[in-house]
Amino acid sequence: MSWKRDILKPDQRNKVVAAMQPVLCDMIDLSMQLKQAHWCVKGMGFLPLHEQLDDIIDSTRSASDEIAERIVMLGAAPQGHCQTVAKETRLEKYADKFVDVEKTFTLVADRLDKTIVGLRSAIDAVGDPDPITEDLLIGICAGLEKHLWMVQAHEGEAR
Ligand SMILES: [Fe+2]
Repeated sequence: MSWKRDILKPDQRNKVVAAMQPVLCDMIDLSMQLKQAHWCVKGMGFLPLHEQLDDIIDSTRSASDEIAERIVMLGAAPQGHCQTVAKETRLEKYADKFVDVEKTFTLVADRLDKTIVGLRSAIDAVGDPDPITEDLLIGICAGLEKHLWMVQAHEGEAR
């Protein structure tokens, strides 16, 4: 069975998929890095952060699924293999030791921020040929920005 029609013309599809693929890799990497953070956080205030990280992981996993499925809808095969993610992610590797609560907030906020920067640049790139993909990415970005706020609200003093 073939598709009734392609959602986008081939050059538009290539542009949108090229913008989404790096975001998919960042998002898969983010969900794995957050698990690492969830396991290795230690110290006073461990439990709420341990649980908060699982909330963020749920969001990032469902976001990566939505991004991959949008790529499929456009007619391309998403590349979510661990080898591809390791090569293409724009996030720095997470610490490989136990990390105290304060430092965990900082490392997690850095990675959320980096992922958001990539998402916002993809939003700029896809809007013209495909406002539907743009809308999907905006929704995902809004969710991540809310998580970033909640992580940053723990850091430092009120100003
Ligand atoms: Fe767990």
